Amino acid sequence: MKTLVILISGRGSNMQALLNTDLNVDRMVVISNNPQAEGLQIAQQQGIETCVVDHRDFKDRQSFDEVLAGKIAEFQPKLVALAGFMRILSDNFVHRYQGRLINIHPSLLPAFPGLATHARALHEGVKIHGCTVHFVTPKLDHGPIIIQAAVAVLPEDTEASLADRVLQQEHRIFPQAVRWFMNDQVKVTGGVVQITHASVSQITLYSPGLTE
Ligand code: GRF
Repeated sequence: MKTLVILISGRGSNMQALLNTDLNVDRMVVISNNPQAEGLQIAQQQGIETCVVDHRDFKDRQSFDEVLAGKIAEFQPKLVALAGFMRILSDNFVHRYQGRLINIHPSLLPAFPGLATHARALHEGVKIHGCTVHFVTPKLDHGPIIIQAAVAVLPEDTEASLADRVLQQEHRIFPQAVRWFMNDQVKVTGGVVQITHASVSQITLYSPGLTE
């Protein structure tokens, strides 16, 4: 049985993109650290199993992570996808799930790890910005890159308009990465990902301006 566990903290639009796609999975479970996460309701409305491990119930990061890791383990997931999960995970957690733990990040890593990526991109004046799906390693926003998509930064862009365009691309590349993983097409050698049995157009950067 191929199980996908999706971790969310808020809105859940990336989760929704995963739920809307045929990912070659048998079971999906959504877990949130935030009982108020809008994404929980969306998942429930779609008949997806959900649970909450509220970080505020724990005295420190380590004890939260231990319980979260244990909850995830109950589902024996093939893959754990961080879809807007806004907690930094401890090294122990990451080591336990390393190789089957992926994240969507709103920048073209290794540029702009961390928060406020769109504001920082505008501040730096970069002309191309985007998003990345990567394996999670103990170093924040810094693991083997599975897929990226780029958008042009336009002169009239605001943080909100840029975030919107990047988000549209997130919704394309995240399901693609999960599907590849579920189909055993993702190989990591020396920290570099190769996608097997995929066309060049699928694995290369999406061009700025591409609207398909
Ligand atoms: C996305 O921009 C994602 O890249 C980042 O957090 C945001 C979550 O949005 N990690 P949503 O909850 O998926 O709508």
